Amino acid sequence: MKILIVGGGGREHALAWKLARDRQRPTLFCAPGNAGTVELGTNLAIAAADIDGLLNWARREKPDLTVIGPEDPLYAGLVDLLQADGLRAFGPCRAAAQLEGSKLFAKSILQAAGVPTARYRSFSEPEAAIAYVRTAPLPLVIKADGLAAGKGVLVCRERQEAEKAVITTMVHQSFGAAGRTILVEECLEGEEVSVLALVDGCKAILLPSAQDHKRALDGDQGLNTGGMGAYSPAPMETPAFRKMVLDTIFNPTLKELRRRNITYRGVLYAGLMLTAAGPRVLEFNCRFGDPETQAILPRLKGDLIPAMEACIDVNLMPEHAACRPEACVCVVMTAGGYPGAYRKGDAITGLKEAAALSETFVFHAGTKLEGGQIVTSGGRVLGVTALGRTLSQTAEKAYQAVERITFQDAHYRRDIAAKGIKRNRG
Ligand code: AMP
Ligand code: GLY
Repeated sequence: MKILIVGGGGREHALAWKLARDRQRPTLFCAPGNAGTVELGTNLAIAAADIDGLLNWARREKPDLTVIGPEDPLYAGLVDLLQADGLRAFGPCRAAAQLEGSKLFAKSILQAAGVPTARYRSFSEPEAAIAYVRTAPLPLVIKADGLAAGKGVLVCRERQEAEKAVITTMVHQSFGAAGRTILVEECLEGEEVSVLALVDGCKAILLPSAQDHKRALDGDQGLNTGGMGAYSPAPMETPAFRKMVLDTIFNPTLKELRRRNITYRGVLYAGLMLTAAGPRVLEFNCRFGDPETQAILPRLKGDLIPAMEACIDVNLMPEHAACRPEACVCVVMTAGGYPGAYRKGDAITGLKEAAALSETFVFHAGTKLEGGQIVTSGGRVLGVTALGRTLSQTAEKAYQAVERITFQDAHYRRDIAAKGIKRNRG
């Protein structure tokens, strides 16, 4: 069996790692992959955004399955294009990927479905947006409508900051066309949790929950990043919580999509804020999360190929998402300076020593092979991941592995999973 994985980050290395262990022993191709995926298959020099390049390769090589990691190719309609050529792909079609591709579309679905989310107003004229943020109650959240690589959300605690956010997003278009329309949302308070589900067009089956750490520094300080680490299960996960999330968030959302003749297949990721008044949807993503995937897939009991095929063939069953009882912790090591400017091309050492610890996996993100050596090539460099009996033992082990790895100016948070550990003790 031949599988094409689209993307080249930590999520895609984790997907390749899980797929490589599948009973069917697939042959893997990654476009473009990284220095980690090289060890599991063949890297192709095709960027994840190069739709024509991907399509030409797939038409020629006829993969049995294409697994798409990032949102851009999904929102560009790669699944639709592959399907039109009779090729099987895991991920939502373009119409369904609008749940992530347009926050305004997601809001219209949520409202019609009666799913709780932050109150908002949308604007496509900067003057009207500025007039609104001058009087609306603070704090406010300004969001670009379109895809902005996870950076299009600005939480503003002061009025001047909110006005500036409107101007940079709408007038200076710092997130490009994604910011031509914005949403101004009420700011919600609470703990965040990522709940991902496999969806086959009819049913949703929840994967293990996870908690991400978006800020760059310990104690949730510093700038927003793509994610500095994740752990699973999230401490609030109980059978009752899972049932509530399925009944009040996933099922009504999918029902409303179906009512609009949109079939969702693939992974649907709900970013939730657990407010005092109950969970609220902050956002939907139409794909696996990064770094949540690195903390979720090692906990998955069964193989991933049958689960992905069941999503395509409309026969998902609870076994497809069955999970192991162990906890999983992923600590992201970044290049110093990230999410601002950072160095590239520094040699990485200690990878084998780190992976030698029991049930410890080093997922590569921004790495590449250069002259036979693995060097840094992106902001998020590695996702050092451990599986273990308790959350605190597992976090300890993940950090032991992190300490075995070195590269110039490496940075990582020292408190990944700390909230969960505190709550478990609590
Ligand atoms: P998003 O890309 O929509 O998930 O937003 C990125 C991050 O911004 C979220 O993970 C939250 O931490 C924060 N955020 C988004 N919307 C809100 C909101 N309405 N209230 C408070 N924080 C928010
Ligand atoms: N971890 C957040 C995301 O994947 O969007």
